[in-house]
Amino acid sequence: MDKFEIAVIPGDGIGMEVVPAAMRVLDAAADIHGGLSFEWTTFPWNCEYYLKHGTMMPDDGIATLRGFHQIFLGAVGMPNLVPDHVSLWGLLIKIRREMQQSVNVRPAKLLNGLTSPLRNPSAFDLVVVRENSEGEYSDIGGRIHQGSDEMAIQSAVFTRKGTERVMRYAFQLAEKRRKHVTSATKSNGISHSMPFWDEVFRDVLKDYPECATISHHIDALAAFLVMKPHAFDVIVASNLFGDILTDLGGAIMGSIGVAPAANLNVERTYPSMFEPVHGSAPDIAGKGLANPLGQIWTGKMMLDFMGYEELGNLVLDAMEATLAAGVKTGDIGGVSSTSEVTNTIIDYLRRRT
Ligand code: NAI
Ligand code: MG
Repeated sequence: MDKFEIAVIPGDGIGMEVVPAAMRVLDAAADIHGGLSFEWTTFPWNCEYYLKHGTMMPDDGIATLRGFHQIFLGAVGMPNLVPDHVSLWGLLIKIRREMQQSVNVRPAKLLNGLTSPLRNPSAFDLVVVRENSEGEYSDIGGRIHQGSDEMAIQSAVFTRKGTERVMRYAFQLAEKRRKHVTSATKSNGISHSMPFWDEVFRDVLKDYPECATISHHIDALAAFLVMKPHAFDVIVASNLFGDILTDLGGAIMGSIGVAPAANLNVERTYPSMFEPVHGSAPDIAGKGLANPLGQIWTGKMMLDFMGYEELGNLVLDAMEATLAAGVKTGDIGGVSSTSEVTNTIIDYLRRRT
């Protein structure tokens, strides 16, 4: 029996609704498998915690998290209580940085029973692999002078280590999928870092001869994601380009409420963190209206990362069966509650065995 110790941070708002829902689905999946179980330890680190303690997590929070196999997080943020930059940097970004979660993975797939805003899209199933630790989102730069003389400089940082690491992860993922990797570049306009990115890509691809590759400039690639998303398998991108592409990926799926994500420590020396793309949705929190699919799909990604891909696929199948049966929340045109959707998914999972 494989037993996984998971640190759970439901966070704020609908995080507190969709995280327990996804835990129930994962427990049901573990039951069906028979050879694995989860031990969940929940931490109350959120904006309420900040109001009581003046910090989003205790000083030894990172050390505590290190002892777990993985971290399962809902969403953080209650802008009416705590400014977003405080809650985000105090918890989420701190964990991502200190745990060296240098690769961010976000799939986008046309799910059965979900309406994409694209007109008659062909079936698409792609994954954006985004560099999560450097690139355009480095903290290097500064401002000088005032008034009309004022200026700002912000540097982008591309290391060979970070660039290779994210590309290798993308190729290894593609080898398990349709064996195609697209590189998001902009070497026609960005004359140092992007030609470097292209060079590293050309070096790395030699180690994965089974994979076909193509490079697209980011502007054209953004358009292709709308015009022909079915043409893509794995897309590898820098921090900024990946950030933009993944929002687009979520949008063409039909709702932010279904989009999953993983922050991976690919070396597996620290736990990775699994959290959906959406935030805490204060506008609908506490009403049973939240779509649990994003969090549940995120749980599927955790199963995949821990080596239980077949089981993960069963979870995704059960999600699609539930959608196709019309059991869905309001954000995607249904009338069902968070728990009705969750229960239906669990029923489909059990029926498969
Ligand atoms: P949001 O994703 O929370 O909500 C945007 C819109 O989508 C809202 O109308 C919301 O009701 C809807 N929505 C989101 N998830 C949904 C779901 N599962 N089911 C049904 N509807 C859903 O983004 P917003 O409003 O910009 O941010 C709210 C708070 O969340 C802020 O404090 C923000 O900083 C934080 N946030 C946290 C993230 C994280 O923890 N990773 C990511 C994005 C935002
Ligand atoms: Mg974004």
